[in-house]
Parts: sequence; C-alpha cells; structure tokens
Amino acid sequence: MDRDSQSFYDVHRTYEDNYRQGPFGSFAQAPETGVVDRSARPQERFLGIPLNLPFGIPAGPLLNSRFTTAAFRLGFDMAVYKTVRSHAWACNPFPNVLAVHPASPDGMLRPGDPELDRGVLADNRFTQPLSISNSFGVPSRDPDEWQPDMRHAIEAAGPGQLLVPSFQGSRRTGMNTAGYIADHVAAARLVAETGARLMEMNTSCPNEGHNRLLCNDPALVGEIAEAVKNEIGDLPLIVKLAYMPTQEELERMVAQTAARGLVQGFAAINTISTKLVDAQGGQALPGEGRERSGVCGAAIRESGLDMVRRLSALRSDRHLDFVIVGVGGVASPADYHAYRDAGADAVMSATGAMWNPSLARQIKSE
Ligand SMILES: Cc1cc2nc3c(=O)[nH]c(=O)nc-3n(C[C@H](O)[C@H](O)[C@H](O)COP(=O)(O)O)c2cc1C
Repeated sequence: MDRDSQSFYDVHRTYEDNYRQGPFGSFAQAPETGVVDRSARPQERFLGIPLNLPFGIPAGPLLNSRFTTAAFRLGFDMAVYKTVRSHAWACNPFPNVLAVHPASPDGMLRPGDPELDRGVLADNRFTQPLSISNSFGVPSRDPDEWQPDMRHAIEAAGPGQLLVPSFQGSRRTGMNTAGYIADHVAAARLVAETGARLMEMNTSCPNEGHNRLLCNDPALVGEIAEAVKNEIGDLPLIVKLAYMPTQEELERMVAQTAARGLVQGFAAINTISTKLVDAQGGQALPGEGRERSGVCGAAIRESGLDMVRRLSALRSDRHLDFVIVGVGGVASPADYHAYRDAGADAVMSATGAMWNPSLARQIKSE
C-alpha cells in the first residue's frame, strides 16, 4: 500500500508550525490541476449536492485552505475545514499526537472496555494498523483570519467536490446556558457568511468541560440546533457525535434534532476517551487534565460501524431521511465499503488519510 512515512499533518511539529508551514509529504506537492478528471460527471448526491465520490477527510487534520485544497487535488471529494469557534482559542501544549497500542486481541477499543480506564500504551512508534491520540483542545484562529480563508477553501472545490465547514460553541467561565447557545449561533452565522453550502456542528469534543461532551445532553443539543437553524435557515446542518453507548440516549438525540427537522445529518464517530500510559505506566501526555485523551484510527473502527448501523436502523424505523457520515478507523477501500454497507451516505478518514494520501484514489481505482 502506498503510505507516506510522513503524515500531511506532521505530528512531530507543533500545531502552530503545521498551521503556518503545512501540509507536508505528498499533500505539499499536490498537483495544481489535481488528479481528478475535471470533466467527470458527479455520480452521487449528498444532501442534494453532486459529488464524485462521497468520501473525504473529517474535521481536524485539514487546518486551513492549503490543507483542504491539497485534499481536493488528491481526489478527496469532501474536505471538512477544521472546527472553528466564534473567537480565537489556544491549542493544548505539544505533543498532541502519540501512537496508541491497544492490548485487546483484535486491537479494538470499545467504550466500556476496562482497558480504557486501566491505561493503554502510547508512544512514538507509528506502526500499522495505526491508532493515535488526539489532544488539541479544538484550537481556533480568530474569525478575522478563518473567515476569508474558509471562503477561499470553499472556492477551491472542483466539480463534484464539497467543502464542509465545522464549528462549535465555547463554554467560558461564568457563561450561562443562554450565552452558550448564543455562542453557537454566533459561530454558525460567521460560517454562513463565508458562502458555505452546509455546516457541521461539533458536539463531541470535551467542549462542556473536562471529559464532558455536549452530545451527552440531547435536550441541550436540540435547543442549540433550533437556535442555529433559526440563524442559518435552509443551509443543511450536520451534528457530529461521539460514540453513544446507550440506545435510549441515541434515540433521544434523534428525537430532539432530526425528527424535529432541525438537523439534516449526523457524522459519527469522534474519538474515544482513553487513559494513556507510557511504557513505565506513567501519564503519557504531559500536563494537568491530560491523563485521558481521545483515541482515533484503526482501534475505533468497530465502534464507528456500530454507531452507523444503529443510526441507520433508527432512520428506517422512524421513516426519517437524515444523512449519515461514517467516520472512525477507515484506512482502506474495504473499510469505506463496510461503512457504506452499514448505512453511511458518506465516509471519512482522518488518521488513515493522514498517512495515506492515496486513499481516495485507491477507492476510485477499484
Ligand atoms: C489531528 C486530528 C484533529 C482532530 N480535530 C477535530 C476537530 O477539531 N473537530 C472534530 O469534530 N473532530 C476532530 N477530530 C476527530 C476526527 O474528525 C474523527 O472523528 C476521528 O479522528 C475519527 O476518525 P479516524 O479514526 O479516521 O481518525 C480530529 C482528528 C484528528 C486525527
């Protein structure tokens, strides 16, 4: 398999260096005209938008328009612009990414596994099948910087390609619920001003405080989605979810959002929270509040597929028509097809694509 030893997001450099100097590896040399046939007629549709292949890179590793444009040129037809906020937000200290080595026989990490609380080995051995830690804290530039750049990113999409902006609200000390909702609306308004054709709202990072996720409160997600939808009107809204272990909670999420027409799709899953330890059993990521980190890559594939299957079953049982974006551990064409078979309308790969810039072309060449 054609894998780069260097990821397009260089995990050995700081976030700031990646933002200013990236992307790296093959992404840095993405040809001007791209490898996509620009006369091709898009074969698929996603929320009514024509797409060549409903496959791309989810929120996170595409930091700015240089990254998203390189992704388009390498045949990733969906590129999510990294989650932005209504105001600048700092990144967690370096390092942010370590290689993670689950001890379970099938290499998977599933919510509820005792291993997640006992500790999983994390180090700098980036070997296949690859799982990584993701400890950034969802940094954001100031809107004055990201808005013009996002506009540029949207314009760089070729025929049958789609730039998906991601945003989230920020809970600051002393903020009440009304203020928190208003911050989501402000961020959504700023995204809509860039000419976005749709947007994704991240409810699956610890944005509610240390290790607390907004998506664990479906009623609040419903309130926020209603306020955001009032602001953005007909623009489709996708909600990014973490793995939700209980069926009751997932059903409430769908009932509070998609069933009320407030949300047109779900993207799932985000990372799985895991205690990370070094070879001596000590804390792997330095600093307070970093005993646990989100893990993504190969180890979370079964959990991602499980969420997509459950969302797909709910969709047909309730006669709803939301779209599902399947994310988690996709590293090969077979993984792409497994997600489509599970009910995903589109599929995305972060960790897999970071080390394999040919992944979209490999799926297309089948
Ligand atoms: C470097 C990196 C940064 C990420 N940042 C974000 C983010 O800002 N917002 C978000 O919704 N998800 C973020 N994610 C999570 C991914 O979108 C995705 O849900 C997760 O990595 C699982 O996919 P994977 O197994 O293909 O990596 C990030 C992932 C990576 C690898």
